[in-house]
Amino acid sequence: ASTRRHTFVVREASYTRLCSTKNILTVNGQFPGPTIYAKKGETIIVDVYNRGKQNVTIHWHGVKMPRYPWTDGPEYITQCPIPPGSKFSQKIILSSEEGTLWWHAHSDWTRATVHGAIIVYPKNGTKYPFPKPNAEVPIILGEWWKSDVNAVLEEMLATGADPNVSNSYLINGQPGDLHPCSKSSTFKLMVNHGKTYLLRIINAALQDILFFSIAKHKMTVVGTDGSYTKPLTRDYITISPGQTFDVLLEANQRPGHYYMAAEVYSSAHGVKYDNTTTTAIVQYRGYYTPTSPPSLPHLPEHNDTNASVHFTGSLRSLADAEHPCNVPLNIGTKLIYTISMNTFPCANNSCLGPNKSRLATSINNISFQSPTIDILQAYYYNISGVYGDKFPSHPPLVFDFTAEYPPLKYETPRKGTEVRVLEYNSTVEIVFQGTNLVAGTDHPMHLHGYSFYVVGWGFGNFDKNRDPLRYNLVDPPLQNTIAVPKNGWTAIRFKASNPGVWFMHCHLERHLSWGMDTAFIVKNGKHPEAQMLPPPSDMPPC
Ligand code: C2O
Ligand code: CU
Repeated sequence: ASTRRHTFVVREASYTRLCSTKNILTVNGQFPGPTIYAKKGETIIVDVYNRGKQNVTIHWHGVKMPRYPWTDGPEYITQCPIPPGSKFSQKIILSSEEGTLWWHAHSDWTRATVHGAIIVYPKNGTKYPFPKPNAEVPIILGEWWKSDVNAVLEEMLATGADPNVSNSYLINGQPGDLHPCSKSSTFKLMVNHGKTYLLRIINAALQDILFFSIAKHKMTVVGTDGSYTKPLTRDYITISPGQTFDVLLEANQRPGHYYMAAEVYSSAHGVKYDNTTTTAIVQYRGYYTPTSPPSLPHLPEHNDTNASVHFTGSLRSLADAEHPCNVPLNIGTKLIYTISMNTFPCANNSCLGPNKSRLATSINNISFQSPTIDILQAYYYNISGVYGDKFPSHPPLVFDFTAEYPPLKYETPRKGTEVRVLEYNSTVEIVFQGTNLVAGTDHPMHLHGYSFYVVGWGFGNFDKNRDPLRYNLVDPPLQNTIAVPKNGWTAIRFKASNPGVWFMHCHLERHLSWGMDTAFIVKNGKHPEAQMLPPPSDMPPC
């Protein structure tokens, strides 16, 4: 029926924000793009037409795509891009996901404006594990540059320095009325007193983790990244690029109007950020609305790491009979991945990074280089020379987090396209170790093809003897993107039950572009149902 097939025409459209007009890349002329509605376990087909001027790919963020990485979307990982004038029919294969996911372009920085929500309802005959809300609303957080986003990327690569920051954050495509020329278009959520609303909040911003809050109202988190959580009631949430939160809002305050607002959370010192709050309005229907502006919610300070980790560390999965926790208890493959900011020497000394260097990022001191043929195709057809399968494994580096400038020997990574091969159904633990190299920051790490259990985190160096004793193996949250705290670590676990090629990267777009990426090849199992399906016939050519 109508929900099972969609047409996505990727094309430019003219949009006016912050008093100026420009062409942006959109899907079907919409920004944010269309919402895809589905029921748990469905497969949806999206016919993607590229009618723009640049290459593009579309990724279904958080959809596991069992045995079918072919239409997962990351360019040069699972496909070559769709060239202008071409079409690619993509499958979205849902399995255990239920809640809020999203889709976005996965080619250069086109996801800045090419993104939208995926809402997965329970199957017929099953219900939400919380009282049915009176209405549901996607809240998509984004980011707006007055200049062309391609130009921001090009300038970043040319100078080797941090990119220009955006001109505003957005709520459902709008900067909100604290920004010039934005008052009449500010997003308004109309509510009835006494009713409950399910906000499906998505952070689609390119570069920043955000705090989000609603004045005078509590928010109860009931889900994240397409799975349910134990209810968690808070004044604010912290949401990384890539993450989603399902939040219940009760319209139980004095009828009137209230701001909802998002602001940047950034632990990096010395990094510029946009400090103007983006706002939308919660307005009670049928009541006199004061002429004075609504009051702003209280949000943590932009560098309040404790506020950030306090929220993130409080999430728990439901772990009940209907939503069991399947965290692997015995781990066969233990990996430690050091994720860090780095620098490269600059050819003619013209770079504008720290000490005239060029900024880079790395995992285990390898800065990922994108191949020119996708890794999936090279793996499937045995094309050599595209990637290496020797992603390094080494004992944790020990960082002195009290030193402002750690030893330089850690600072210059090597370039490479290395993946790690995992046996089918192996149990995997990855400890992401953050560093303080080149003004470290939190890194929202995202894995394609899987959800993972977040079993532990801490500040400082991971201690392989002590820290695992404190893991939560009872009700850890099941997520697909997790912010690793600055100067700290986060441990995740999953079972490699989905054969294919799966990208893993920091979801801050600049870090992805600089090389904080790698991929897993998960081998086929013995049974035919444990093996990758063959490719569709219309894969874009390389
Ligand atoms: Cu949200 Cu690799 O992506
Ligand atoms: Cu990062």
